[in-house]
Amino acid sequence: MYLHHCCAGFLRIVHGGSLAARSCPGTRAATCAALGQRHNGRVTNDANQGRADPRNAGYLTDNRANWDERVPAHAASPGYAVAQFREDPAFLSDVVRYDLPLLGNVAGLRGVHLQCHIGTDTVSLARLGASMTGLDFSAPAVAAATALARETGADATFVQGEVYGAPDALDQGAFDLVYTGIGALCWLPDIRRWASVVAALLRPGGRLFIREGHPMLWSIDDTRADDDLLVVRYPYFETAEPLTFTDGGTYVETDVIFEQVVSHSWNHGLGEIVTALIDARLAITGLVEHDSVPWEALPGKMERVDGKEWRLADNPARLPHSYTLQAVKPGNKP
Ligand SMILES: C[S@@+](CC[C@H](N)C(=O)[O-])C[C@H]1O[C@@H](n2cnc3c(N)ncnc32)[C@H](O)[C@@H]1O
Repeated sequence: MYLHHCCAGFLRIVHGGSLAARSCPGTRAATCAALGQRHNGRVTNDANQGRADPRNAGYLTDNRANWDERVPAHAASPGYAVAQFREDPAFLSDVVRYDLPLLGNVAGLRGVHLQCHIGTDTVSLARLGASMTGLDFSAPAVAAATALARETGADATFVQGEVYGAPDALDQGAFDLVYTGIGALCWLPDIRRWASVVAALLRPGGRLFIREGHPMLWSIDDTRADDDLLVVRYPYFETAEPLTFTDGGTYVETDVIFEQVVSHSWNHGLGEIVTALIDARLAITGLVEHDSVPWEALPGKMERVDGKEWRLADNPARLPHSYTLQAVKPGNKP
């Protein structure tokens, strides 16, 4: 599997074909623009100038270039298991398989997967019987996802677009299910705007399902291996300025050295996320915090659970690792 963390030091080292590090698949060496701290060397201070303000679209340019470049390596990586999707018609991503108990039956639903990347989770949902649309701002990601759906005969189509533009790019009020997460929210500067997008896409009675890295996890310094303590280093709450990282790697197993190394990400507190959904007129129907996460978010401090998810090796009960949040748009299906 894959993934990364967002906002704090993205590391991406892959262990055993699974997700490895923390950060929104991104970067490990970084400048924390919000804190004005130098993080782990290799900092690009220039990256913050004229770009850090989320009202400046520069963050999108950097992030898109960063993601575009990673697509071929991710599609070829064992972590994303694209070959297994082709070979085994029943194969599901580890992420969707983890989601199943809370996700329930999605057969017959019309779903949209926001920030779908190369479509492995989207195709998994289609294999469970949903009719899926994936949206991502990366053209190479959309091309890879489209190829995967075509090759596997999945009921999934893909649209290139930015999340905040999704209501204009897709059918509004038409989806039974909005699915997203695992390294998605960290790329967005404004959680309230995201919640309004979700509300606009759902039909009355439709449901949001998100499993995401916990904002408390993302506030922890992932480079501290010197003691057993967890050190809170990065913002827990949403900040106007992003965390800006530079990193030539990614979170899957690959020999590729990337050139588009700058990325910008944000944390969003759990209360901010829940409140944003409530204010968008969605009814919260479930919030579960988990003691595991799909990638090795705190390298050197975590161990695999059942060969899949990662958990703090020492006293894991001290930290929420990820969460699943569900909400429904009031009303009945027209
Ligand atoms: C880590 S992936 C999350 C998807 C899924 N959990 C996975 O791992 O396959 C993050 C995705 O978000 C996309 N992305 C980042 N910012 C975006 C934005 N503003 N609008 C649309 N897509 C965006 C990237 O292109 C990338 O494919």
